[in-house]
Amino acid sequence: MLTTSKQLFEKAQKGHYAVGAFNTSDLEITRAIIAAAVKLNAPAIIQISEKAIAYAGLENLADIVKNEAKHAKVPIVLHLDHGRNLKLVHECLEEGFTSVMFDGSNLTLPENEILTAKAVEMAHRKKIFCEGELGTIGNSKNESDFTDPSLVKDYLKKTKVDSLAVSIGSRHATKIKALNIDLLKKIRKLTNTPLVLHGASGVPDEEVRKAVAAGICKVNIDTDIRHTFSETIHGINKKYADLSDPRDIMAKVMADIQAVVEEKIKLFGSDGKG
Ligand code: 13P
Ligand code: ZN
Repeated sequence: MLTTSKQLFEKAQKGHYAVGAFNTSDLEITRAIIAAAVKLNAPAIIQISEKAIAYAGLENLADIVKNEAKHAKVPIVLHLDHGRNLKLVHECLEEGFTSVMFDGSNLTLPENEILTAKAVEMAHRKKIFCEGELGTIGNSKNESDFTDPSLVKDYLKKTKVDSLAVSIGSRHATKIKALNIDLLKKIRKLTNTPLVLHGASGVPDEEVRKAVAAGICKVNIDTDIRHTFSETIHGINKKYADLSDPRDIMAKVMADIQAVVEEKIKLFGSDGKG
């Protein structure tokens, strides 16, 4: 069923596990994520980025997730990932998203705080949670900027975000060796606000486990899903030369993505928590 993230985060924090947040851009990825969540009786956040919206259309993609979630026996959250402007946050809230993120990490701190506070106000009017970002989670091209713990309390007070994306060494679509777990522990001591790990595809499993144990309660995975999709497609001719019906090809893609999502759910400890 489609739900908000409030109870999901409360349960995750009490149970010391994290909820997986998986990016989708189409029907097949959405179905694979939900199939994995249902099989393992796990809650799941399905998130949509601006690039996914540009690809599939906001209404189309939101409808796919909402329809698929309606029939699922586990809690599913429909979340806007890295929304960079208030107009988009507004559109997603109107479209029935049950969670949003405002990412002002490319702005100055005062601008980040002012616009994030506005996004939070918009979300709260609809009783929806809003995630913010302090510090910058870069990618292989852009440097990341670690979250400064001395700014955390003030940022949370000014913005009233319900969850906080922290920059502790992970980077989008980039393999890293280790997270700064000491920094995470320092931030955790300052607040009970649910903390979010972005860029988790490139983080070694052992580091993800440590981060969850140190208080991360939402973990974002995108690249691993997209790579699995393309690798399966590229390998189709070699492995299944007889397949020509796109629906049969997509069945293989979905099975492979489902397997990846199942592994992540187990890694985050959210299996059996649906
Ligand atoms: P990866 O693509 O590195 O898994 O990061 C996902 C993410 O942070 C989405 O917001
Ligand atoms: Zn991210």
